[in-house]
Amino acid sequence: MSMTTKVGADVERTGTSNDIWMVRRSTRRHRPWPLFFIGVLAILTLGTYVHLTHSGTRRVVKIPKDEEVIKARCENLKSIPDPPPEFRSRSSSDRFVPGTRATLIKNATVWTGNNAGKEVVKGDILIDQGLIKVFGDKVDLKSESLNELSVDIIDTEGGWITPGIVDLHSHLGVMSVPKLSGAGDGNSRKGIAQPWLRSIDGLNTRDDAYKLSIAGGLTTALVLPGSANDIGGQAFVIKLRPTKERSPTSMVVEPPFTLNSTDQIDLHACGENPRRVYGNSRMDNIWAFREIYDKARQIKESQDAFCTRALEDDWEGLGAFPEELQYEALVDVLRGRVKVQVHCYETVDLDDIVRLTNEFKFSIAAFHHAHETYLVPDLLKKAYGDTPASAIFATNARYKRESYRGSEFAPRILADNGLPVVMKSDHPVLNSRYLLYEAQQAHYYGLPDNLALASVTSVPAEMMGMDHRIGFIRTGYDADLVLWDSHPLALGATPRQVFIDGIPQFDSAYEPPTLKPEAFQNLPETPDFDKEAEDAVKYEGLQPLEPEKSVVGTVIFANVSSLTTRASGGIVVNVFEASSDAESGILVTRAGKVVCAGMQEACSRFLSESDAVIVDLKGGAIAPGLVSFGSNLGLEEIQGEVSTKDGVAPNPLDKDVPSILGEGPLIRAADGLQFATRHAYLGYRAGVTLGVSSPSHNGFLSGLSVAFGLGSAHKLEAGALVQDVAAVHVSIGHAVASGSVSTQIAALRRLLLDPPSGDAEKWFEEVAVGQRTLVVHAESADVIATLLQLKKEVEDSTGEIIQLTIAGGSEAHLLAAELAEADVGVITVPSRPFPDTWERRRILPGPPITKDSAISLLLAHNVTVGIGIEEPWSARNTRFDVAWAALEASGEISKTQALALASTNLEKLLGLDVDPEWSDLVATERSDLLDFESKVVGVIAPRKGVVDLF
Ligand SMILES: *[C@@H]1O[C@H](CO)[C@@H](O)[C@H](O)[C@H]1NC(C)=O
Ligand SMILES: *[C@@H]1O[C@H](CO)[C@@H](O)[C@H](O)[C@H]1NC(C)=O
Ligand SMILES: *[C@@H]1O[C@H](CO)[C@@H](O)[C@H](O)[C@H]1NC(C)=O
Ligand SMILES: *[C@@H]1O[C@H](CO)[C@@H](O)[C@H](O)[C@H]1NC(C)=O
Repeated sequence: MSMTTKVGADVERTGTSNDIWMVRRSTRRHRPWPLFFIGVLAILTLGTYVHLTHSGTRRVVKIPKDEEVIKARCENLKSIPDPPPEFRSRSSSDRFVPGTRATLIKNATVWTGNNAGKEVVKGDILIDQGLIKVFGDKVDLKSESLNELSVDIIDTEGGWITPGIVDLHSHLGVMSVPKLSGAGDGNSRKGIAQPWLRSIDGLNTRDDAYKLSIAGGLTTALVLPGSANDIGGQAFVIKLRPTKERSPTSMVVEPPFTLNSTDQIDLHACGENPRRVYGNSRMDNIWAFREIYDKARQIKESQDAFCTRALEDDWEGLGAFPEELQYEALVDVLRGRVKVQVHCYETVDLDDIVRLTNEFKFSIAAFHHAHETYLVPDLLKKAYGDTPASAIFATNARYKRESYRGSEFAPRILADNGLPVVMKSDHPVLNSRYLLYEAQQAHYYGLPDNLALASVTSVPAEMMGMDHRIGFIRTGYDADLVLWDSHPLALGATPRQVFIDGIPQFDSAYEPPTLKPEAFQNLPETPDFDKEAEDAVKYEGLQPLEPEKSVVGTVIFANVSSLTTRASGGIVVNVFEASSDAESGILVTRAGKVVCAGMQEACSRFLSESDAVIVDLKGGAIAPGLVSFGSNLGLEEIQGEVSTKDGVAPNPLDKDVPSILGEGPLIRAADGLQFATRHAYLGYRAGVTLGVSSPSHNGFLSGLSVAFGLGSAHKLEAGALVQDVAAVHVSIGHAVASGSVSTQIAALRRLLLDPPSGDAEKWFEEVAVGQRTLVVHAESADVIATLLQLKKEVEDSTGEIIQLTIAGGSEAHLLAAELAEADVGVITVPSRPFPDTWERRRILPGPPITKDSAISLLLAHNVTVGIGIEEPWSARNTRFDVAWAALEASGEISKTQALALASTNLEKLLGLDVDPEWSDLVATERSDLLDFESKVVGVIAPRKGVVDLF
């Protein structure tokens, strides 16, 4: 006999003080249940018992005391997550901090997020009670019954305002900085699929990055567990500002216990990460998913069966609500009450997960990283339920196989296919302070401006289920706003103020950046990359990158508005600058060498050469080819794949160096060079023509760096090897494999004063007598100070001046005067600092937190400064790094000085012997190298003897 007896609606209620009794007229005839059986079952499961009076039509059933609670719970299972109706008319935010003054922001240019990000409104915004109270043409305080004295008033002078920036993929607080061994709560290694873990349980409120990210306009982040597991756990949405309570919980937006619906967000991961950690194959991983989803499905089905009966008052032998705490979140996924975020890159993995969604009928909010989603739009559309968004990086790619086919054109291709695009940081992988920069780059490579801004505001808000309160500028929304100093899609856009829950994040002691000039207030007119985007799809991410044409004969660059070159003495000079649109210059090359340059008339005779190739730069510019230093550029193709890399040089402080290398070997990067890597070619196509790399190492001794051409196909090509030994490189710091810092200094002292025979003797003697540059990679001001002392000690002993350069130098600004005094230059790597380790923690963050940046401060002290990168993929962004450094110095760095940061200064600091006449030049169309409006169209490469055209 079935346990699911149908119950009719004719229920009478009687009651006693403790129990609710129900007298029920049975609607059908059944055979009587043996009393003892029902009783025992009920006692076991309901904690109460049931009387049956089986007279054929009438019986008494004892039902659970908490019947209403059970029924409410059952009803609630069906509800789709949504804020309660009264939320929409709230007059004060649950996050409002009493005492916060109202602010009237006047005369702003407001990007609202409405109409797919196309709406821009000029007007005033009144924020109060943590909310956007009034937003309109002109806000009259009197009609809002506000006392003018209790309202702060900001006149933005027409400046841009956007909603606070929203990061859909962050590990803020769970992978906090500076990185210490007591932190690192992003990943559990205790199981392959653990939907029960919660990122909030590891959220460190002491992460140095919160305030830095706020300084970039970030106000809200989804804090995900790491991706070491198939299911890493539940993610939480936080606002970054400090709270009065100072607790992790108080940072959470809408914690689950106040909203009865969903707000757990699960992180699933497919592909390489869980494989690596668990030694699984993809097949094992997907089985682990199916197994746990099947378990959740069973729980869900038994809950549904339970609820069907409970809601029909069929309590007979029903038992307790079936649940298991560990699977609660996953059951809610199957109920459509949980947003699922999936870390997934490659087509094979995307396909696996799409199949999983259809097998178990749940939908996905976004695929994260998603480096191949642009190649499989139709596959994405097959996912169960809503089509997932792709949450991606702009140009960070090729760091593992899964990301090898990643494309800078992915955002626009996804958008062309009608798929939602989110730009994300994966903080601290990318510093989320610069999340907006990801959107700017996506825009540069073709994502429409409305979607670019939406990709870091309204779309991520929607994908995290928070678009009812953040991600838009609308009346009644949270007062999370950013006032920018320029158009938000202009390079270097910096907040003048950030409001979170109506609270200004920079206090009155702070001097905000002023509004940038008019030219920065407009949307950059980005180049046409249609052909490149088409090719990305055609070649499935691996389109050929070598130059389209290499011309030995005459090439004429016409309509040049500015010519900047290297000059003798290691400086960059402006040769001409058109003063009006009508004026234009011309530059003529033969065999890759400039033979004429000047105003149109000066070289017009070449225009009649019939076989000359003419390149119309349309008002563009010619600038020095840039140099990239600091990463493994030219020594690796895919960071995570050992078979694609040179590998690691032996570390004499760690273990015995193989005797075949002799005493004191110094490894030469030149011997491990790889050419035609995608990183190198992409750099070349972005105006970086020279790479300098030192051997990879895991502490202390690196070896001899090499300078090489990024546009060369192999080492034996003319111009490929530019300088086979550049400088001697060592690192001093808390490397795991190199003993103490003081041991490393002792070893360096010995190498300088009394080197062992062999290579070390040869090269360090050159260093000791000032004929070879020594580059020491060091971050901490204490180490740098010790190095300055050591330099003096050696100089006192030898009577010669050492050429010393500090690379890294996160804390170098603390010793700006001392470095200048010792004539020691600094290569800042990266160019915008981040305190990811203890030795790097005392950064000078730059605007808007401090007026000076480390670069501008060092330059002001007359320290020679170069800029570097940490990972090869970012070589291509050097031109923007340079421009950014200049923008952060508010006009104190000229264009030529900016270009020098990544050309002549670097060459000097790395001991390169450069003849300006044999140095590369870069031609850009429509504008110069330093902004989002230009496109690199050619490299004038005298060492190669050609002009490369793209
Ligand atoms: C959430 O639960 C509360 C209290 O039980 C109830 O008042 C509210 O209406 C519920 N909201 C939703 C969206 O179900
Ligand atoms: C708003 O700012 C613009 C730009 O500074 C200015 O021209 C205009 O007069 C201002 N309008 C009002 C109403 O203040
Ligand atoms: C320079 O630009 C003008 C205006 O766009 C164009 O007409 C002319 O052909 C260009 N000159 C060359 C040599 O391409
Ligand atoms: C830097 O050099 C310039 C020009 O040589 C000089 O005028 C200035 O005083 C120097 N600044 C410092 C801080 O030494």
